[in-house]
Amino acid sequence: MHILITGGTGLIGRQLCKALQTEGHELTVLSRDPNSIPEKCGAGVHAMTRLDEWHPGRVFDAVINLAGEPIVDARWTRRRKQALWDSRVTLTEQLARRIAAAHRKPGVLLSGSAVGYYGNRGDAMLDESAPAGEDFAARLCKSWEEAALGAEKSDVRVCLLRTGLVLSRQGGLLGRMLLPFRLGLGARLGNGKQWMSWIHIDDYVAMLLILLRNEQASGPYNMTAPQPVTNKEFTAVLAATLRRPAPFTVPAILLKAVMGERACLLLEGQRVLPKKIDSAGHHHIFAKLADALHDLLGR
Ligand SMILES: NC(=O)c1ccc[n+]([C@@H]2O[C@H](COP(=O)([O-])OP(=O)(O)OC[C@H]3O[C@@H](n4cnc5c(N)ncnc54)[C@H](OP(=O)(O)O)[C@@H]3O)[C@@H](O)[C@H]2O)c1
Repeated sequence: MHILITGGTGLIGRQLCKALQTEGHELTVLSRDPNSIPEKCGAGVHAMTRLDEWHPGRVFDAVINLAGEPIVDARWTRRRKQALWDSRVTLTEQLARRIAAAHRKPGVLLSGSAVGYYGNRGDAMLDESAPAGEDFAARLCKSWEEAALGAEKSDVRVCLLRTGLVLSRQGGLLGRMLLPFRLGLGARLGNGKQWMSWIHIDDYVAMLLILLRNEQASGPYNMTAPQPVTNKEFTAVLAATLRRPAPFTVPAILLKAVMGERACLLLEGQRVLPKKIDSAGHHHIFAKLADALHDLLGR
């Protein structure tokens, strides 16, 4: 297949490109920095810098849409919120228009979303049928999904990737947490009762490949491990894996003062269950957090 990937240079995209190349697929990555593509995505991956390079005669068999400004890196000013929105919702709307214009449509669009779709739901167990929340992150995900579903009008199969916290050696959440934990400064956040729906990157990529191939798969998929944990448990398991103490607590009030509104990403959570992916044919390699962290960090 010839596959177009947006966000192919990112944490998930880089590993996905490797897996897809191993399977022999031809890849084109949309990136603002095409020169970085050979190093990040692999030699032989084609570059696209603007979506309007996709003229109607160009054929992609599948599209994987992972682009988005990092959500936790900067304060959610009005300008930042607009950038988060444009890089997800607006870009996905443009993608759906390109798909509509294509003479030969791709068979499938796999498009990003996040477990933040559900909002802050306390201890409630959430499968794909749970409704959307109402905070900024939830509205962003809902609109991002609606933009992707626009491709269904072109008779394209659409899968929505409600992504949990992706655990990888290469960065992301774990990358941020490692230094303080290694220094013995690991801390739980607030009261530690918020749920963290995590996923090992190998499972994530395996799930993407199933959704790519399985022609019956469509609609939302919770891209998470089957055993989410609370922040308190995550802290304890990470500290035990690194054989370091994690005696501290970062008070919620401090996180809110430093991070502003986006502190909700750390202080609130969702207890998400990957109900649909099992029926699509995936058996998790890493169902337990301790096994996932041991694989990623164990010596
Ligand atoms: N990793 C997680 O734990 C997690 C959790 C939930 C949801 N997600 C979502 O899953 C997607 C992939 O995650 P990731 O961790 O791989 O993300 P990432 O490492 O931050 O990479 C995102 C990619 O998006 C592109 N991008 C960033 N800002 C952009 C902009 N303004 N316009 C166009 N493209 C832009 C970048 O590509 P170029 O710089 O090459 O243009 C980058 O490679 C993201 O949309 C993210 O929100 C991730």
